[in-house]
Amino acid sequence: MIGKQGISSRRQWLVRGISGLAAILSAAIGTPAALYILVPPKKKKDSSWADAGNLNEVPLNRPQQIQLQRVHFDAWKIRSETDVAWVVRTDEDHVTAFSPRCTHLGCAYRWEPGAQIFLCPCHGSKFSSTGAVLSGPASRPLDQYAVKVEGDRLWLGDVESGNGAARSS
Ligand code: FES
Repeated sequence: MIGKQGISSRRQWLVRGISGLAAILSAAIGTPAALYILVPPKKKKDSSWADAGNLNEVPLNRPQQIQLQRVHFDAWKIRSETDVAWVVRTDEDHVTAFSPRCTHLGCAYRWEPGAQIFLCPCHGSKFSSTGAVLSGPASRPLDQYAVKVEGDRLWLGDVESGNGAARSS
């Protein structure tokens, strides 16, 4: 037979056990949540500039298609993607980089060395080596990347519609 004191003791043990379990569960759930709130995610680095290679390897007055790797930081995620640009170097230190997408509907265009034009195969738009529209249906010039030159390295930033040409320093 169990006395009143025995039942009370068991009840206390049960209450303490449940309280302890609740504390463990709270810590297990609360700690990661608190860390998520208290520890700020990594600040985004300036990922807009990507090394596009050695400027001296770009021939003069001969548009060259290049590939570059862009690294994007998004909180704890880091991803890398391949980007493409058409680079035109008109003298020793003057370079322009065009987005590879036609400004009509976004097709990939190509350089036609014989005609010295960029030609879009989708609807026939033609652009000069400076990106100007020679014939439509495209109505605006090729988009350009922001460009900077550091030493002999060419760096490309984001696509912008204005003039992104750069001179080396
Ligand atoms: S997408 Fe280039 S001409 Fe239409």
